[in-house]
Amino acid sequence: MTARIIDGKAIAQEVRAEWKVRADALKERGISPGLAVIIVGEDPASRVYVGNKVKACAELGLYSEHIALPADTSEAALLAKIAELNADPKIHGLLVQLPVPRHIDSSKVIEAISPEKDVDGFNPINVGALSTGNMRFAPCTPFGAMTLLEKAGVPIEGKHAVVIGRSNIVGKPMAMLLLQANATVTICTSKTVDLAKFTRDADILVVATGKPKMITGDMIKPGAAVIDVGINRMADGKLCGDVDFESAKEVAGWITPVPGGVGPMTITMLIANTVQAAERAAGL
Ligand code: GUN
Repeated sequence: MTARIIDGKAIAQEVRAEWKVRADALKERGISPGLAVIIVGEDPASRVYVGNKVKACAELGLYSEHIALPADTSEAALLAKIAELNADPKIHGLLVQLPVPRHIDSSKVIEAISPEKDVDGFNPINVGALSTGNMRFAPCTPFGAMTLLEKAGVPIEGKHAVVIGRSNIVGKPMAMLLLQANATVTICTSKTVDLAKFTRDADILVVATGKPKMITGDMIKPGAAVIDVGINRMADGKLCGDVDFESAKEVAGWITPVPGGVGPMTITMLIANTVQAAERAAGL
């Protein structure tokens, strides 16, 4: 079997166009959806991600503020900036790019962001809402992965979904979204004994381990949908995922490539969450 390739770039374009219609409808009412992105320090990868978030806002005609603070910014100063943006009516979505420098407590930062503006869905209020089935904001990467599954027509209800990785940003919310969609969900971690036993039973396999090419074709159930959340830079400068694409595509029924799979969806769902936050703020 050769898997159907789930084209994240094309699906991201399609979903962005859908959300642009909703953003334009708000603008006709005089409301421009606004996103503020705070970055603390100089981490090169984070700077690229934040630049791409701001660029995507501009492409869709959204208002955005890019706040770059020096690495030695105090926790108190960052919390004060968040409080200012929480109160700013031009801003509907607010995020602080993670990781923050070590002298800042990331939990305090996440808790300081108003739940109504928490477009990352990381605030414990929104994590709780997702867990209790009253979702407000789904974290962008798992939301994007779910959207890929839905747009590709992958059956979810009643299927066994295996998520490898338990981070707050990807693994845990991904498992919650799959559970909400009536999948039977297993979460595996780096400590899981006999990982292949679980992966070979997965109808849907979501991999977020940060270990290049660790999932090989022999670990995949024939016909499964494989969603690769990993982005790793190899010694030759090329990007690869956590799944060994070449062997996996011969076994899987669907597979996301890296790059061009989940990656383009993350920022798309950030736009979706920001437009939704603006709609809610307008009482729609
Ligand atoms: N760092 C890596 N991924 C993310 C994300 O989705 N949001 C934020 N704020 N920081 C991140």
